[in-house]
Amino acid sequence: MLPFRIVADILYGELNEEMIADLKDIVPLREVLFKQMINGGLTRFSLSRFLPTAANRGMTTFQTRWRAFNDRAYERARELGGFTKPVVSMYEAAHKGPVTFEHVLQTLDECLFANLDVTTGAMAWNIIFLAANEDYQGKLVKELALHSTTEGRRRYILNNSTLLASCISESARLRPAAAFSVPQSAPTTRVIDGYVIPAGTDIIIDAYSLNMRGDFWGLDADTYRPERFLEKSSVEQRYHYWRFGFGPRQCLGKYLADIVIRSLIIYFVENYKLRVYAHLHPHFTNDVGVAQPFTIAWSYYLATLAKLLFSGPGGPETRFWRLNSTPQEATRYRAFSWRKIRWAFALIANQRGVRWNHEVKNVHPPEARGKAHFLALQAWKIGNLQYAQLSFISVALGLSRPEDWPPPFGAITDVTTVRQFWGKYWHQQLRHMLTSYTDAFIDTVGIPRGTNWSSYTTLYLAFIFSGMFHALSQRQMPCPVDVTDSERVTGFFLFFVWQAAAITFEDFTQWCWKRVLVGNVEYLGEFAACRRYISLTLYRQLHKVLILDDQKPRNVWSHPTHIVSGWEGRQAEELRAAACAELSNTGLVDFEEGTATSVTRGESCFEITTEECMTFRGRKLLIATGKKNVFPDIPGFADNYPEKIFHCMFTFGYENRGAKLAGLLAEGALATPFHAKMVIGDTMKFAERVRVFTNGDSVLRAKMDAHIGLPGVTYEDRPITCIRRTASSLGLELDLEGGSSETIDFLVHQPRTEINILPLVKQLGLELDDRGDIKNTPPFYQTDHPGVFVAGDCATPFKIIPMAMFMGAQAGAGIARSIAGDGFLKAHSQQTIM
Ligand SMILES: Cc1cc2nc3c(=O)[nH]c(=O)nc-3n(C[C@H](O)[C@H](O)[C@H](O)COP(=O)(O)OP(=O)(O)OC[C@H]3O[C@@H](n4cnc5c(N)ncnc54)[C@H](O)[C@@H]3O)c2cc1C
Ligand code: HEM
Repeated sequence: MLPFRIVADILYGELNEEMIADLKDIVPLREVLFKQMINGGLTRFSLSRFLPTAANRGMTTFQTRWRAFNDRAYERARELGGFTKPVVSMYEAAHKGPVTFEHVLQTLDECLFANLDVTTGAMAWNIIFLAANEDYQGKLVKELALHSTTEGRRRYILNNSTLLASCISESARLRPAAAFSVPQSAPTTRVIDGYVIPAGTDIIIDAYSLNMRGDFWGLDADTYRPERFLEKSSVEQRYHYWRFGFGPRQCLGKYLADIVIRSLIIYFVENYKLRVYAHLHPHFTNDVGVAQPFTIAWSYYLATLAKLLFSGPGGPETRFWRLNSTPQEATRYRAFSWRKIRWAFALIANQRGVRWNHEVKNVHPPEARGKAHFLALQAWKIGNLQYAQLSFISVALGLSRPEDWPPPFGAITDVTTVRQFWGKYWHQQLRHMLTSYTDAFIDTVGIPRGTNWSSYTTLYLAFIFSGMFHALSQRQMPCPVDVTDSERVTGFFLFFVWQAAAITFEDFTQWCWKRVLVGNVEYLGEFAACRRYISLTLYRQLHKVLILDDQKPRNVWSHPTHIVSGWEGRQAEELRAAACAELSNTGLVDFEEGTATSVTRGESCFEITTEECMTFRGRKLLIATGKKNVFPDIPGFADNYPEKIFHCMFTFGYENRGAKLAGLLAEGALATPFHAKMVIGDTMKFAERVRVFTNGDSVLRAKMDAHIGLPGVTYEDRPITCIRRTASSLGLELDLEGGSSETIDFLVHQPRTEINILPLVKQLGLELDDRGDIKNTPPFYQTDHPGVFVAGDCATPFKIIPMAMFMGAQAGAGIARSIAGDGFLKAHSQQTIM
């Protein structure tokens, strides 16, 4: 506040207590207004002054108080000393008319408030430059010694040709008060250096260009060398140096400002040794741009390292692949080939493994369809998020697709616990990397997976690890020298550890609620979707059921349901909701949201642990976890499934009857002439002709041609390079290798499916058949593992809802009977088999 008080005393005469108190009240009002002005937005428009905004209300209050203060100050200054104080002569000028009161109040405001910012800023830079160039302090002290008398010192301070004056000018040259001058309009047309500046043109001065980048200041223009001001006359310097402005509107306080700054520097160099204490708390760099790759990017380095360390003997190539590609795709790519580089880049950039075989849970659905829409969405986020930048570059260069970059964060409204905040809402970018390390630790020390020990070790290790690297990256960022290392990192680190502690506390509270207050419940343990049908059977036998689900059913697309009696044409989501409501009403069915990650079998029950570290026990276990689609690696396939690409001609096709030409992609299950012929028959009910695409397989094409022999069926063996909607959006355009393309009304293809819970299947020792479905024994669908039943897509080739319902109802009956007496099932299945 020193420059403020000095200028106030000069303007108004020495302030009394009442005036100081008054100003102290007014300053915060002015501060708030200034912030609102700098923030921009509405305040930038001249018409905004008529709006009922907080800024306008604040302005009115400030103006009223400012006027009242100055009126009182004027009266007092007159009483004290006639016309000597500037406030008096300014007010008198306004009374007489050459200027208005508005001019006077604006000028006084500028003198006090703007001066405070620029003068303290200038002082601070002078101190920093002197501290960084200690020899100049010595030189100044020597110069000062030559002017030690009061009169000598007074003349020295006013002299512009001293080293002191040069130091201050040099500091202002390198760090001007503002990067640009306030815009001013040329009142008439001017010609400057051959350039015509029309009247009314707004002009600003780029301070850095003038002060540093021009030829005038020589090759060492960016170094602190105050002597340069002694080498050139002020006339020479004119128009090569911007500090107090130019022309009639230049700074009113330029002489005063220099007197204040010079006096203060004299005080400092004579009484203190100024030094930069960077070596006390050294830090990596002062340049944020340089610090970035060593800070924020740590998660990418660690994730890459984890992939190299923990992928097993075959390396990352055998462990990671895209779901729409063939397993272990990268083993076929030549080292350093463009395809392999693209694969590696996509793997590193896609931290959550979206649409890869290691996709983490709780990734949110994409918000944009199509490349152009995606790029437009990311472009406006790019300024503030590394994720948006990386996704923009990857998709623009064609290294990945929009669907690989779903929004990083979920809906905050879904968060009710700390665990959910981190596990569902937060971006999940670090999940795969962190668990790679924690899993390796758990396996190395031999903690059995799926136990509380392993869950909480994972929880704490993950947060400690994350906290450690967040804190280390914080330590590498530029920061003020007076902030110690421990101030920078300790709080940061502890913040993360506290999260693990909070989650433990939450878990304990929930455990108490379930075990102590609700009672120790023995469930029948069941997880997944056709669970609803099994549960209907079970509640009628008075059995208690727990349904554990992570809410990612296979028909997650919003698409009307068919072939489900009583539900024709309605949404699958509604069907699920209605089934859940029915079950809730029974009072015997509990629902839990979570992903089962391990299952163990105790003496009398199964224990399921979830990724969220919850544990559930049940006497019997029904697995109804469905399967996930694995799309062929054809750009545009995922964009058009299931709207224009149909996997089943009973649930799709009818709505497209009367089509001219359908395509059939003969891959996977449809790559056998027998199966393909059957599905072509189904398709020809809705399309006049069918074109079979063997996607690069000419042998298959020949086989199909020979076996199918149906009129209206033609064949194409060139690989499909891209699938796009036609301009009308009603059909599909298939680009073929070699350049041509084919237009069809819709495409038929049955994507490969993969079991969702492979680790659990392994833990239970269950067997898969050659389609990858869990082996079981009808009619109750029990597996070889006693007490474990299966239902739905994961256990049948007939992957439709009625089948899932039927299996669920039957498995429910089997479970109820097996609880009554385990001998029953054995006898019954033997009977069935016979
Ligand atoms: C686009 C499309 C349209 C379809 N249309 C029809 C139709 O009209 N009519 C019809 O009859 N059929 C249709 N189907 C087939 C039908 O969707 C499936 O047959 C049915 O959903 C199978 O039910 P399910 O319970 O076996 O598996 P899903 O419905 O896939 O449910 C499995 C559940 O298990 C959960 N789960 C998986 N792993 C875990 C884990 N580790 N921990 C906890 N939970 C887990 C999943 O999140 C999911 O909620 C369609 C399928 C698709 C893809
Ligand atoms: C190191 C300190 C200061 C710097 C770098 C500085 C700089 C400037 C600059 C660049 C301008 C604009 C000139 C233009 O538009 O061409 C300005 C205007 C002004 N300054 Fe300063 N200033 C400082 C200190 C002060 C002080 C102490 C006062 C108090 C008397 C003051 C009062 C003013 C006023 C009233 C104007 C407006 C002049 C007008 O528009 O006619 N300044 N100053």
